[in-house]
Amino acid sequence: MNQTLAAYFQATYGHPATIGVRAPGRVNLIGEHTDYNDGFCLPMAIEREVKVLAAKRADQLIRVASMEQVGVATFALSTAIAKASDPRQQWTDYVRGCAQILLAEGITLVGCDLALTGDVPLGSGLSSSAALEVAVIHALLAVAGHTLSGSVIATLGQRAENRYVGTNCGILDQLSSACGVLGQPMLMDCRTLALTPAPLPAGIAVVIADTGKRRGLVDSAYNERRQQCEAGAAALGVSHLRDVTLHGLWAAAQAGTLSAQALRRCEHVVAENGRTQAAFACLQAGDAPALGQLMDQSHADLRDKFEVTCPELDTMVALARALPGCLGSRMTGAGFGGCAVSLVSEQHVAAFGPALTAAYRQHFDLPVAVYVTKPAAGAGRLAI
Ligand code: GLA
Repeated sequence: MNQTLAAYFQATYGHPATIGVRAPGRVNLIGEHTDYNDGFCLPMAIEREVKVLAAKRADQLIRVASMEQVGVATFALSTAIAKASDPRQQWTDYVRGCAQILLAEGITLVGCDLALTGDVPLGSGLSSSAALEVAVIHALLAVAGHTLSGSVIATLGQRAENRYVGTNCGILDQLSSACGVLGQPMLMDCRTLALTPAPLPAGIAVVIADTGKRRGLVDSAYNERRQQCEAGAAALGVSHLRDVTLHGLWAAAQAGTLSAQALRRCEHVVAENGRTQAAFACLQAGDAPALGQLMDQSHADLRDKFEVTCPELDTMVALARALPGCLGSRMTGAGFGGCAVSLVSEQHVAAFGPALTAAYRQHFDLPVAVYVTKPAAGAGRLAI
């Protein structure tokens, strides 16, 4: 793909690229809707990524083109970059947002030509936008001769998404893409941004199944859940639900401080933080069956208490769970569509994908897809 992208760069701009970077998508094994509550997640970067080639220009213009999109977008570096006016170039808002956020941080950028390609499926909850942000920030920094740590790059990518694109996401996606560890999922502490990797148990594969349901109203429903968590924390007198126990929640509910719905939302978050730390202990102990059980419990809470699943996700997870070799399955990412993630014993993995696809098609006429992936390395330079 590098060769093809290099040729595309040359054909688009009439000169060769000088710098290459890559940034992967991610899948979260457990710890969902915990990141913006300052809690814990257990993600890994995946073997699907965005690649960007770049070359410095003598002026202050950024030109950007993608092998998967039509046309070249051009904008000037400034702390007030306009969003794309052409709807077909809306994807370039991620690029514009990253440039604007870096400049707002006082980082000196140079004009450059950018060409990119990617194989992270779009809009299916595997963080194609975070991969794009992290790759673009790496590229903009590299052509300007700067380096920043992975966690700072992740924070800047999240800021571009929050402040420029307007999605109120947490740090999970960008930090996974920027700091993934080859061969190892990582416990992510979203308060300190500390990452502690541990290998997958021997003989266990991670299988992602895309329901084909695109996350329609995800932004409004996501923001609503986020507000409910923030309101719950405020009612409990803490800044984040990270600092609450289940007993504290139940006492507050009894005293009338939390509504029944607020209690359900908070219970998921508090229990999920506990499950995620327990899941990491299972990883360290090589106990895949126990890890799988925690994933099952996570899905049940996301369905019944946090209410972010949908019939497609619930069906996919139930079908996966019934297949030979499956140790645990759950929705991954924001929910309302997108993907499920399952732990599957390696000897069953070849049969698992086709069986799951066939079973799912009996229920839904949607473009289902299955990806088997190992934990990939986080973003970095590409040799060109
Ligand atoms: C989306 C967001 C993340 C995180 C997950 C839910 O992927 O971008 O920040 O909140 O949903 O865990």
